[in-house]
Amino acid sequence: MTSTHAGLPADIINYIKECMGNRHGESYLIPVLQKIQNQFGYLSKAHMDEVSQLMQIPAVKVTGVATFYHFFSFVPKGQHRVTVCMGTACFVRGAGQVLTRFSEFLGINPGQTTSDGKFSLECARCLGACALAPVVLVNDRVYGAVQPGDVLKILKEYGFEKAVQQKPVRQL
Ligand code: FES
Repeated sequence: MTSTHAGLPADIINYIKECMGNRHGESYLIPVLQKIQNQFGYLSKAHMDEVSQLMQIPAVKVTGVATFYHFFSFVPKGQHRVTVCMGTACFVRGAGQVLTRFSEFLGINPGQTTSDGKFSLECARCLGACALAPVVLVNDRVYGAVQPGDVLKILKEYGFEKAVQQKPVRQL
């Protein structure tokens, strides 16, 4: 068989082959996509096309399934992942304004990555540190009692320069 692999690693290709050896192998599409996202942090078009070929599922269906589920992402995560908790405890203490400030400084909306690949912005439901609300996570570091006025200072810790005009990366 001719190789059409655009870059999926051998373990994922083997997993797909294993799935396709079962009855209704195509029903393993979501676990396959999850495995790819776990490994790469997002689903690229090339990887989805490869899944389409290996699983003999039309590309439009693979894309359709992936876009239906909110947990799939189609842009690479930034070097620094900013997550603003929007759970109840954080929200009532002003997480919305904190999120707006991050969004304004970075020039992107939640779910997007800056064009230089440095920052991505996300929301979470509860980061499990409600006593510290409002909570922001940057990579693995937790910031508690964050006020809108703290946002620029936090971003600067990760090399953000206010003068740089950031543009969002387009999503699928
Ligand atoms: S609601 Fe934000 S940490 Fe729990």
